[in-house]
Amino acid sequence: MDNVGRMLTNDYDSFAEAYAAANESNFANAHYERPAVLALAGDVSGHNILDAGCGAGPLTAALRDRGATVTGLDLSAEMIALARRRLGEDADLRVGDISDPLPFADASFDEVTASLVLHYLEDWGPTLTEFRRILRPGGRLIASVDHPFVAYTFRQPWPDYFTPDTYTFTWTIGEHSAPMKFWRKSLGAMTEAFTDAGFRLSVISEPQPDPASRELFPDDFERQATTPGFLFFVVEVPIPSALPVSATP
Ligand SMILES: C[S@@+](CC[C@H](N)C(=O)[O-])C[C@H]1O[C@@H](n2cnc3c(N)ncnc32)[C@H](O)[C@@H]1O
Repeated sequence: MDNVGRMLTNDYDSFAEAYAAANESNFANAHYERPAVLALAGDVSGHNILDAGCGAGPLTAALRDRGATVTGLDLSAEMIALARRRLGEDADLRVGDISDPLPFADASFDEVTASLVLHYLEDWGPTLTEFRRILRPGGRLIASVDHPFVAYTFRQPWPDYFTPDTYTFTWTIGEHSAPMKFWRKSLGAMTEAFTDAGFRLSVISEPQPDPASRELFPDDFERQATTPGFLFFVVEVPIPSALPVSATP
């Protein structure tokens, strides 16, 4: 990661508590993004799941509550500490970078969830290749990212939508401000990254917010119901077709 001025970008350690507290109950995460990922995941009872970029573990916990065995991985030691506080000493929670080779065996997971984390990576290729390796045939990656139509409105003049690039801004949560750096790509570049890594596209989703949130967050609900926010993907590891029977010599 690089620096903006003298401050580290994307330093979740520096605002872990504030981010986790907001994420717990806010509209965007608690009432929009997380319910959407859980709906896409469906019945995960008995499944083995890697929650990549798990943060303080709210999705990890929700998947575990639904009967899955979940491993959490995150770059931020402070986020992992909060996840441990939530999930307990026995939980498999690790500090690690999803850009690096992953410390898991081939075909050892039914699902990987990557909730709002891929847009921190310049190159999705090595990460998606690793996700594919650790997923069993038929296994699924469920990912959410900033919607490209939203990411591309951040900078004026209008940037070149078809050339992946980066943008930065200062994210303020309560009294905490942190410089953030995101990578954005077109929808086509995203789908190509998945298929180049050997995944088959199953779902591209722009879900509506949870109707239950309309009363709690009327303004957010109205905005989210009418404009893009996050984009959701479910991609699958193809199941190899039966091997051809060779002719007997
Ligand atoms: C927006 S938060 C989302 C956290 C969690 N998925 C959720 O939805 O509550 C993004 C998380 O990704 C983590 N992260 C960013 N880059 C990462 C990387 N290269 N490897 C692992 N985790 C990363 C951050 O530390 C942070 O906890």
